[in-house]
Amino acid sequence: MGELSVQHLLGIKYLNKKDIQLIFETADHFKEVINRSIKKVPSLRDITIANIFFENSTRTKLSFELAEKRLSADVINFSASQSSVKKGETLIDTVNNILSMKVDMVVMRHPNPGAGIFLSKHVGASIINAGDGAHEHPTQALLDSYSIREKLGGVEGKNVVIVGDILHSRVALSNIFALKLQGANVKVCGPKTLLPKHIESLGVGVETNLRKALDWCDVANMLRIQNERLDISYFPTTREYTQQFGVNKALLDSLDKEIVIMHPGPINRGVEITSDVADSKQSIILGQVENGVAIRMAVIYLLASKIK
Ligand code: CP
Repeated sequence: MGELSVQHLLGIKYLNKKDIQLIFETADHFKEVINRSIKKVPSLRDITIANIFFENSTRTKLSFELAEKRLSADVINFSASQSSVKKGETLIDTVNNILSMKVDMVVMRHPNPGAGIFLSKHVGASIINAGDGAHEHPTQALLDSYSIREKLGGVEGKNVVIVGDILHSRVALSNIFALKLQGANVKVCGPKTLLPKHIESLGVGVETNLRKALDWCDVANMLRIQNERLDISYFPTTREYTQQFGVNKALLDSLDKEIVIMHPGPINRGVEITSDVADSKQSIILGQVENGVAIRMAVIYLLASKIK
């Protein structure tokens, strides 16, 4: 088996195409493992991993913890809201204290863009970025591409549109990097106010008409409006956003092909997609969550093999 070109997973920006292929091939193996009656392998019995979350999470946190346990790693969980961060302890002091308990790897979600990159330069452990502000969410992009590969047989040459709040979305940026590396055609679609200036420089097309975007695509990745990151109003009302950029069943059924619907979660049902779309047979949303465990097992396993 090959090895990754990186010591940390800080962003898709730092990976190459071979890294992604290796992660997918390793995830194929682990996906088979987690569908057995005994869903566990002894691979990482000698590794201890700390999951440190400074922001809320359901999918990513549980999926990392499950991935670590299925690899037989020892796991500790740290929630900033119940920690001495509340007493003023710095990020580096916090992590160095955790590492002095003989921890080998840190999975971190943090509200500040670049927090994982900063940490990787100051502490002696392998760092996995589980989402840093509006910057990157690399394991989400990996599981998204892996799910497209599984559903459509590959990513190269596929037309993928990412719809919604591109400006504040770490999922969008990581997906753009991952999809472009694998040769997909990528467009972003949303209100002009939620599309970053110069986004075309990343090699993506821009579309502000949802119907045209859906007519073009094989896959629509629907994003949530990141209300927690909005300091001002970027569109008149939620109802008007939904009218222009929400996908409902009537719109989906009016297309002359069956597109694949994705969403990283959490869904705002009735805003970016209606329930009958989220729960339709065209939706692979829960498949994405399932694949998240295998992808995270693969990433942890491959990074751990570099610190042994
Ligand atoms: N997709 C995702 O990152 O979800 P959580 O915020 O629940 O982890």
